[in-house]
Amino acid sequence: MTDSPNYRADFPVLAQTMNGKPLAFLDTAASAQKPQSVIDAMDAVLETGYSNIHRGLYRISQDLTAGFEAVRAKIARFIGAKSEKEIVFTRNATESINLVAQTWGRTHLKQGDEIILTAMEHHANIVPWQLLQKDIGFTIRIIPVLENGHLDYDTYENLLNEKTKLVACVHISNAIGTVNFVNEIIEKARKFNPEIKVLIDGTQAVVHGAINVAEMDCDFYTFTGHKLYGPTGIGVLYGKTESLETMPPYQGGGDMIERVSFDGTTFKEPPYRFEAGTPAIVEVIGLGAAVDYLMDIGMENIQAYERALADYAAQALEEVKGIKLYNGSNTQSIFPFTLEGAHPSDIGMILDQCGVAVRAGHHCCMPLMQRFGIEGTVRASLGLYSNRQDIDQLVKGLRKVKDMLD
Ligand SMILES: Cc1ncc(COP(=O)(O)O)c(C=O)c1O
Repeated sequence: MTDSPNYRADFPVLAQTMNGKPLAFLDTAASAQKPQSVIDAMDAVLETGYSNIHRGLYRISQDLTAGFEAVRAKIARFIGAKSEKEIVFTRNATESINLVAQTWGRTHLKQGDEIILTAMEHHANIVPWQLLQKDIGFTIRIIPVLENGHLDYDTYENLLNEKTKLVACVHISNAIGTVNFVNEIIEKARKFNPEIKVLIDGTQAVVHGAINVAEMDCDFYTFTGHKLYGPTGIGVLYGKTESLETMPPYQGGGDMIERVSFDGTTFKEPPYRFEAGTPAIVEVIGLGAAVDYLMDIGMENIQAYERALADYAAQALEEVKGIKLYNGSNTQSIFPFTLEGAHPSDIGMILDQCGVAVRAGHHCCMPLMQRFGIEGTVRASLGLYSNRQDIDQLVKGLRKVKDMLD
């Protein structure tokens, strides 16, 4: 395969230099850069067709309402949902999970119940459950992470019991890149008790390959627009119709009601029941443009390209003296590492001088860092616009770190 199909050229921000060097942007797992088509789609709304949606009787409002709802249908197709009514727009993945905790969780969990999380969850899939736990008093059980970065699937089976009501698990770890066997996790839960709900945090997974939530048979799947080459301020909650229908509203206000009186209020059907207030209209259009961009390239092509690049990166990084990589087998596009004798923040700052953007710290996965007995790592993460030059620049930068700090 050639080094790069040059998707990079579609991303105007990547044309610049940083500290006099070409910008090697290796922090896509934190937030992805935006292709020109996303910027153009959002500009076009603001320049030629902006209004509020759902209630306007005039043409630009009706056109924008149709465009907004078309994105819902597009996202349903993108992730293999059976209906666009299963797509709830939220602010981000964090809000998607909080929504499930505060609506499904508050309605269905009681004292004495158990939920299962994993030791590699992002704080977004830990803290919402802890907040609810304080009010309700259920127990949180944790699937451990093995030394090789995989979940301990045997322990998972033993954790399932008659008190288990929910399993909530990340699809691809943002901190160590492990691709979890979510089908196996869902199957085991279903086999034990078909009533157990399964939430998959797909924030990193939806970016790197094709997803089919109907085939996966999860109850909830969550992700965020800004990591999917779309704008900030927009996220998605997929929920199976039968699950969404059992959930009360998340927030109250306009757009989510059927009828309001001081004697009582009735609510719309899902997904609208969960979308109180004016939504992120322009951002939804931007997310739709991002999904168009990805579908035009093809998620299978993106996956193949990124896997080949990841092999190149793995090999190049392994050759850096004193490096310890924290990703094991079956990982995707995420390279967390420490370097002997250097603090992650110092590495990050020196790499910045070399034009390389990486993340250093705990990556919102403190329990996972505790598991490995470290404070944090440096994380280089790839996107579809990454290329071999970025990796070479990173490796050169790491050699400079060694020279400066040794
Ligand atoms: C796996 C995972 N889940 C959830 C989140 C939260 O995303 P957001 O901050 O957009 O809500 C992130 C962000 O880093 C993530 O990587």
